[in-house]
Amino acid sequence: MRQMIREANASDYEVMDEVFRASAKAFCSRSYDSQVIESWAGEPSPDRLLRNKESGDELYVFTIDGSVVCFGSINLEDHKLVSLFVSPEQSGKGIGQSMLEFLVARVKSSGTPALKVDSSLNAVSFHRRHGFTEISRSMYRTQNGVDMASVQMERKLCL
Ligand SMILES: CC(C)(COP(=O)(O)OP(=O)(O)OC[C@H]1O[C@@H](n2cnc3c(N)ncnc32)[C@H](O)[C@@H]1OP(=O)(O)O)[C@@H](O)C(=O)NCCC(=O)NCCS
Repeated sequence: MRQMIREANASDYEVMDEVFRASAKAFCSRSYDSQVIESWAGEPSPDRLLRNKESGDELYVFTIDGSVVCFGSINLEDHKLVSLFVSPEQSGKGIGQSMLEFLVARVKSSGTPALKVDSSLNAVSFHRRHGFTEISRSMYRTQNGVDMASVQMERKLCL
């Protein structure tokens, strides 16, 4: 079994969108109404990844034997972890943690002192476990205009 993390390219967007939608449905439905999940992740929208890339995000995929099972993205200018999604079939195997630590190392190497995240409610304990502390709570507007309760968190990076 060959595992690797690499930069995403345009031909990955479709499967990344599938991972996002499956992961959002599996994990986030514990914390949000089905209507919110449906408008956030109901319809395929691989173009959103292109838009994210164009707005300056760096996108990475974790692959197992060439198949994308997780993706994560950061924005160095905003000092932000933008997204981290693991395919439900592959969760609980350390993949989310490996991707997070890869992204943290990348952010650190750019000289950024802290990494912020707008965490979905279901992922707050995951982020807390990985060194993030809660700063505030607010509503987060997704790219399709859906308002979702989220928690702003920050992890200080020792440079
Ligand atoms: C949160 C998520 C990324 C975790 O990925 P994963 O690959 O299943 O997690 P890992 O197997 O790497 O877990 C690493 C550690 O975190 C713990 N962990 C995983 N999910 C957790 C959660 N929701 N709450 C608390 N701890 C969690 C694991 O038990 C493990 O602990 P250990 O090292 O003591 O064994 C994944 O559940 C996911 O994609 N969630 C939905 C998407 C989402 O909400 N993303 C955040 C958007 S801001």
